[in-house]
Parts: sequence; C-alpha cells; structure tokens
Amino acid sequence: MRLSRLSSLRCARRASLPRLCILVVILLGTVVLVDLIPRMVIVALEPRETAYWEAWEEAYVNREAGDWMPWLKEKAGMTGRRWRTVLFGRKSVNHFLKTECANLVQTYEPLIREELHWWEQKGITKDLLDRSTDAKVIIYQDKVYLSHGSERARLIPTYHSLIQRVRLRVKLPDMVIPLNPGDEPLALLRRELDPPTPIFSFCKLSNFSDIMLPNTIEGDVFLRAPDKRAFRPKSRAGPKDPRLPKAVWRGSTGGFGGLVKGRAALLNLGLQRPDLIDSGVLDWDVNRYGDDGGRLKEKMSFGEQVDRYKYLVWVPGNCASVRLALQLASDAAVLKIDSPELEWYYPLLQPWVHYIPMTANETWCNLEEAIGWAEAHPAKVAQIVKQATDFALNYLSARGRDCYFVQLLDAYHKLQRDRVSLGSNVEYTPEWSCC
Ligand SMILES: *[C@@H]1O[C@H](CO)[C@@H](O)[C@H](O)[C@H]1NC(C)=O
Ligand SMILES: *[C@@H]1O[C@H](CO)[C@@H](O)[C@H](O)[C@H]1NC(C)=O
Repeated sequence: MRLSRLSSLRCARRASLPRLCILVVILLGTVVLVDLIPRMVIVALEPRETAYWEAWEEAYVNREAGDWMPWLKEKAGMTGRRWRTVLFGRKSVNHFLKTECANLVQTYEPLIREELHWWEQKGITKDLLDRSTDAKVIIYQDKVYLSHGSERARLIPTYHSLIQRVRLRVKLPDMVIPLNPGDEPLALLRRELDPPTPIFSFCKLSNFSDIMLPNTIEGDVFLRAPDKRAFRPKSRAGPKDPRLPKAVWRGSTGGFGGLVKGRAALLNLGLQRPDLIDSGVLDWDVNRYGDDGGRLKEKMSFGEQVDRYKYLVWVPGNCASVRLALQLASDAAVLKIDSPELEWYYPLLQPWVHYIPMTANETWCNLEEAIGWAEAHPAKVAQIVKQATDFALNYLSARGRDCYFVQLLDAYHKLQRDRVSLGSNVEYTPEWSCC
C-alpha cells in the first residue's frame, strides 16, 4: 500500500505521464490484492508451513544485518513463477526436461535407474503403497494433498514444500510419494518384502532401498547472505593462499551417529593437535559423554570458517551431513571422510577430483596425512576446489536439484501400476501456501 501511495505522489508531480502512472498504480494494487493478500491469509491459516518457511529463510537471510536481498530475490522469483503459471500454464515434464535440463538428463539417468531398480520387474502397485504408514504426498489431478503418517516429523514440510516448489514450474502426473519423516534411512528395516515398500529419504546407506530425493534444508547454496555463504566469487586456494593451513569442523553430537563415525576422533584431534584442526561441537550431553573437556565451542558461521581456514572436514552424523553441498560450493578444499552414507548426488563425486579423501573411525583419523598432502600440492588443491565449485553449480544449484527431482518423479510415476485415488484422511494443500 505504501508503494502505491509513493507512486501516486510521483504521479502528481509529473502530470505529463498520468496514464502510465495510473496503470502502474493499478498493476501494483492488483498484485497486492490478487497475490499477496490471499497468500497471507492462507499462510496465516497454515502455521505449520509458515514455521517451516521462516526456518528455511533464516538459513540464508541475515536479518540482523538487514541483508534482505537474497530473500527478496527468491520471493520475486517465486511471484514471477506463479504469475507465469497463471498466464502461460506450466511445462509438461518432458518439455521441462528437454528445455531446462538437457545437459543433465544423461548424467542423472543411471543414478535414477539404480534408485528405482527394485521395482523394475514388478512395478509399484497400490497394495505396495498402502503398506506404507508414513506421511505421503499425493498428486492427484494436478493438485497436491498430504496424507499424514502415524507421526508428524520435522522433515515432511521440507519435502512437501520442495514438491510444491517444483510443481510451480512443471505439471506433475498423478502419483503417491511416501516420505521418510526422519533422517535415518528406513527401507532396510522393511526388506522382508519383495519388492520393498517405496519410501523417499534424503539419505541412505548403499544397501538400503530408500529412494533419495534432494534435501533443500540449506536452501540454494548460491543464494545465501554473504556471511552465511561459503562461496566466494574468487577462489583463493593455491600457492599464495593466505589462510591458516588447518582444517575446521563444527557440528553436533547428532542422534544415533553420535560421536562415532569420526566425529569423536575429530574432537579429540582438536584437543591434542590444535595445529591441525579447529574442531568443536555445538551441543554436549554431559550425562552421556561426561565432561566436554573443551570440546564444546561457539558456533562459527560458514563464511568465517572459509575465510579463516583452508580445509573443511566432512563427517557423517545421523546419516549423511547435508552441509557437503555448501562445502563443495565453497572455496576451501573439502576433506571428506570415506563412509557408506549417501545423498542423491554422491555417486557423481570423485575423490581427488572434487574432494580430498580421508578415513576415520571413532578413535583414529588420517587428517595429518591428508593435510600434509594438500600442503605439498597447492596447485592440485586449487584445481580440486575449482572442480568442486563447478560440480556444485552444475548439480547442487536450485536448477540442478529441480532437474534431478523432476526426472526422478517422472521415472517413479511410470512404475506405478494402478490409478491414483485419494483415500480418506488427506488434506488438500494449496500451492499458494508455499513459497
Ligand atoms: C549395510 O551397510 C552397512 C554399511 O556398509 C553395514 O554396516 C551393514 O551391515 C549393512 N547391512 C546389511 C544387512 O547388509
Ligand atoms: C580405527 O582405525 C585404526 C587404524 O586402522 C585402528 O588401529 C583402530 O583399532 C580403529 N579403532 C576402532 C575403534 O575401530
């Protein structure tokens, strides 16, 4: 409303352009009336979605510093997309893949075939889908419904919003998408069945049949506020890198992964070899682990980690740690611990090309060797950093992820044998409530 008033003031002064001004005022008014007000009402009625979006925006908008540009850009992009949808309709899946994802489809094809090979023979029947008691997103006649699972867990709104976001661009065919509400892979536990009950998770071990979908918790890693961005436009890795020749790690003790799988070793190294690594944990359960002995540390933003240190360590937590996307997009080298945890894009990653590999267990980690190698080969490290950033731009940007997700859903829906119907206990979720 304030904008409209401003335009009117300016209009009053420039009497020579009254018609154009009136048009602008009418346009602005229409956007406010038709777009913003209904969405605000829906969002007010849907506190769950709002809470999620707030958290997501928090991840990359630095509100205290008043840096609203990434947020505004994202919002403007979404508004534009919604209006394009209203005016021109949405692309079909085929058209979308052909026009927006042409250079990615071939790369993604084998990954997707591997994810879905369990159902290649027998397909996915309604009986199979009905076995899943978790939350499901149902796409039915171009509308999105949510069927609540036995428990409502934190990741469902993330996936639901991702589906809504993608649907603003692409007309998705009818399908049922069972979702894993947590961050442990589930499907091995249910492998008494052949084929297994399908379930979408963001992470798994390679012997699980969970279908991996992209996790968008970190938002678009290239769209974050400067202090939360690991990506700097100019890579500084190389022989003249002025940063400390040390690794950094901040994280949580995290669920069943806990301090096993290398986190404990990294924390101990932080105490014994502060010349090698600045490691610290952000939460600490005294009853479980005893005194923290100096392991508990202050949070350090990604921007600060990359500004200070040459090397970022990746270790799995509950399952894979989603920060790998951010780390690859950064201009510090990633020291990735070999582990069986996977996110959707890991099969495309190559050691010594995109990251420096390490091994670790609860008590031991060859960090010294890895840093020794890196310090002796600065030009090679600069090349790895550059290749990792290119990888992230290609595959982990919003476009790269959306393309993978649409291609995956397309292949998945083709395996469904029965027509989709809406059961009881489903909730219609209007697309305006998202984004
Ligand atoms: C699945 O893989 C994990 C990690 O490689 C391993 O620890 C576990 O024993 C495997 N489970 C089965 C049933 O193969
Ligand atoms: C960790 O790995 C090292 C080196 O391979 C080995 O000596 C040590 O016993 C392992 N520790 C555990 C707890 O598996």
